[in-house]
Amino acid sequence: MKSKQILKIENLRTYFDTWAGKVKAVDGVSLEVREGETLGLVGESGSGKSVTALSILGIVPRPGKIIDGKIEYKEENLLEKTESDMQKVRGKEISYIFQDPATSLNPVFSIAEQLTEVIRCHQNVTKKEALEKAIELLRLVEIPDPEIKIWNFPHQLSGGMKQRIAVARALSCQPSLLLADEPTTNLDVTIQAQILQLMKSLKRKLRMSMILITHDMGVVAGVADRITVLYAGAVCETANTKTVFYKPKHPYTKALLTAVPSLALRREKLAVIPGTIPNLIEPPTGCKFHPRCEYAKAICAKKTPRLEEIEPGHYVACIRASEIKIESPLGAKTDE
Ligand SMILES: Nc1ncnc2c1ncn2[C@@H]1O[C@H](COP(=O)(O)OP(=O)(O)OP(=O)(O)O)[C@@H](O)[C@H]1O
Ligand SMILES: [Mg+2]
Repeated sequence: MKSKQILKIENLRTYFDTWAGKVKAVDGVSLEVREGETLGLVGESGSGKSVTALSILGIVPRPGKIIDGKIEYKEENLLEKTESDMQKVRGKEISYIFQDPATSLNPVFSIAEQLTEVIRCHQNVTKKEALEKAIELLRLVEIPDPEIKIWNFPHQLSGGMKQRIAVARALSCQPSLLLADEPTTNLDVTIQAQILQLMKSLKRKLRMSMILITHDMGVVAGVADRITVLYAGAVCETANTKTVFYKPKHPYTKALLTAVPSLALRREKLAVIPGTIPNLIEPPTGCKFHPRCEYAKAICAKKTPRLEEIEPGHYVACIRASEIKIESPLGAKTDE
């Protein structure tokens, strides 16, 4: 049975009004996250992943503005909430981890100070209780000797350890939804795998939902239940992870799979997607991907594709989806 949805975004548009024109960073994104599930949000640099996350949290920086759409969280539209209500949502309901562990921790305070501050900000506990909770959190993220490590300063910790602390801090308010924006990008491959494994097990243990943002399909492969693929601020395809990997229907999803560094190990060289991500002030007409698409026809430059459900739970925004036959670069999955 399908679990209940916790987050539903409909037709979200977030634009940046710059001197050069309106940057359409998020331009009609629709997605959902169900209770207890991990959604992988994937796309190239500049596709609007972070701006989508910032929009959910209500912290889009100026000159950015949400100009249209709905963000329903536990059946309430977050876009109708006041700033003080949103502060409560950010502290208690939806938590986030940003890309760079180094910048997410303050270098002049010990881990103890940083964690107890967040805990005391949202929970009515004494300093001593907060410290106990902080040590408990370090234990949860599998930091050895938490009673000692808690007195360290960020520079005394490795990148992987810092990212574990960032995870601990994000979990301190026991959120229902965690937004993890490229949480492992700056870490080396083994540490990356450890952090992903940790997040996966914590999500299960704490019964959270998660949006895992990455440009690398390889990162979401073992962690996400479903994947939403973004291109130039819009959704190309959404389906469960296996379907995205083995039966993709959108040419851009196929192109992304061909370009996955971690999946390309067996190939001689890494394929790159030809062309670059479009100008978001004046994006290509019709399907924004058409100038780079190997399957494009004249009509693709004219007609804007809508996200349609082509089989239960599998959504594709390509007007030629039913005509073209796409084979996954990973081959067909035969174990079904
Ligand atoms: N403050 C800003 N002013 C103007 N444009 C912005 C601003 N912040 C983001 N953008 C634009 O919005 C678009 C989407 O940016 P976003 O950061 O969401 O991309 P992303 O998918 O997270 O990329 P990356 O993988 O590099 O993190 C980009 O074209 C970016 O230049
Ligand atoms: Mg980003």
